[in-house]
Amino acid sequence: MADPQEVLSHRVQSALGAAFGPEYAETDPVIRPSQFADFQANAALALAKRLGRKPRDVAAEIVERLDVDDVVREVEISGPGFINLTLRDEWIAAQAQQILADPRAGVAVQEAQNIPIDYSAPNVAKEMHVGHLRTTVVGDALARTLEFLGHNVIRQNHIGDWGTPFGMLIEHLLDVGEHSEQADLLKSDPNAFYQGARAKFDGDEEFATRARRRVVALQGGDAETLRLWGELIELSKSYFNKIYRKLDVTLTDADLAGESSYNDALEGICRELEDKGIAEVSEGALCVFLDGFTGREGKPVPLIIRKSDGGYGYGTTDLATIKYRAEVLKADRILYVIGAPQHLHLEMVYGTAREAGWLDGGTTPIHVQIGNVLGSDGKILRTRSGAPIRLMALLDEAIERAGRVVAENRPDLDEATRAEIAREVGVGAVKYADLSVSHDNEYVFDFDRMLALNGNTGPYLQYATARIRSIFRKGGLTPEEATGPIRIAEPAERALALTLLGFGPVVEQVGDSLEPHRLCAYLFDLAQTFTSFYEHCPVLKAEDADVRASRLALTAATLRTLVLGLSLLGVSAPEQM
Ligand code: ARG
Repeated sequence: MADPQEVLSHRVQSALGAAFGPEYAETDPVIRPSQFADFQANAALALAKRLGRKPRDVAAEIVERLDVDDVVREVEISGPGFINLTLRDEWIAAQAQQILADPRAGVAVQEAQNIPIDYSAPNVAKEMHVGHLRTTVVGDALARTLEFLGHNVIRQNHIGDWGTPFGMLIEHLLDVGEHSEQADLLKSDPNAFYQGARAKFDGDEEFATRARRRVVALQGGDAETLRLWGELIELSKSYFNKIYRKLDVTLTDADLAGESSYNDALEGICRELEDKGIAEVSEGALCVFLDGFTGREGKPVPLIIRKSDGGYGYGTTDLATIKYRAEVLKADRILYVIGAPQHLHLEMVYGTAREAGWLDGGTTPIHVQIGNVLGSDGKILRTRSGAPIRLMALLDEAIERAGRVVAENRPDLDEATRAEIAREVGVGAVKYADLSVSHDNEYVFDFDRMLALNGNTGPYLQYATARIRSIFRKGGLTPEEATGPIRIAEPAERALALTLLGFGPVVEQVGDSLEPHRLCAYLFDLAQTFTSFYEHCPVLKAEDADVRASRLALTAATLRTLVLGLSLLGVSAPEQM
């Protein structure tokens, strides 16, 4: 067990039980990192109130029963009753050694849960915008991390592949010709195709009539209409996949579970909710009214599940979706990695599902809210003309900018190598920028900042790994050959080893809190701690062979942790930069 906080928690809890009776053995020992020692246990303060005694006396009694000699060098009571704990160097070294030998770098395997993750979910025949980019990147990082923690992750790409816009899209496809260049646009610039259809729909009454008739044919299951619809899906899929491959995202066609896949369930959903008395007809529409959802003047806000014309909408589909995920996929947690503005919608879907009993098997739905990506003007990022940004163009620009930096720094490398590095750095920079900010916060999209080689950026961390690899190249050994033994003498060695012990806990924390930015912050801290270690402690030039071996082992453990951590985020680490 390498997590010092967890080890100390157990030890303090045993002491609490021994001192005050078994009913106290579960008390939160309140272990926190400390300014004055490595950690402090603050349990005595809350406990003193409960026991009606002085906190310092309670602390003294805990310390008396505390059995930590193998782990802790120094125990000291300070202030009103804090217990300061300073770890033994040998213990830290031994834990770091274990982490080095552990292919999981100290990350425990958790009891497996079924976790469907709803992410990316672009709309067919429409541009994927930066919002879709962010759910794709955050969702994929969560999928990778939860999978690594041992969970059964079920990727669910809930693409928008159904609804009234398909009437105009199909008619437009027929007008331009299925095998035309215009239709081919769907594979590279879907927004242009969409805008073409939209313009005709808005300006041409005859077209609009055809489009509406086509919606009816689509819903009625007309074979030729369905074929054309399938054609639109195919073309869009190839666009999505291009983006996913460029982004190095793990989604494939097997993960597609679009809105249309729930069509057959919608009627049954409405019937079930009506039978259970959860849905009622109001002004011709079938609606669910939930307690606590009120709009202006306290008027109840409905979740409309069947419109007065008989049509189903986004809400109905999401109800069918949550039922499927809970009952068929047997989800323990369902993650909805979706824009923050959809929060109310999701809350109503969850509330309805709960009332219907669909979540009774122990399913917890969670909205991982995605904040907006803004332009430098503080508004949602768009092109100068106000059009949505083309994602492919955005990624290409990031790669091109990274390429300029690589060309400048590494004229010695051949062009193909430079191009590959530029791709990894450009894409890594964009992804890391999405991840390093708390997912529900907005942030301003800024190429210069995300591509900077200093600060909490993707390229900074990538560069840190490349630099460590070059240490090994210079030393004439591989990182795998650096096996220690790890020993600690210098404060900078101690700080680095202690930071390495933090990897397991932070990955577990990301799995619980679903906040990848915590892993980013950890990796940034690790890279900085390594830098100051490297400044203070010669590695290759260490005079003593044992010291050199130990420092090389710490260096190897750092590299492995950085690369593994980045891979959980979906960011690759080029061998050289
Ligand atoms: N296609 C939707 C959009 O672009 C997102 C769908 C999210 N998933 C869901 N189950 N509602 O806004």
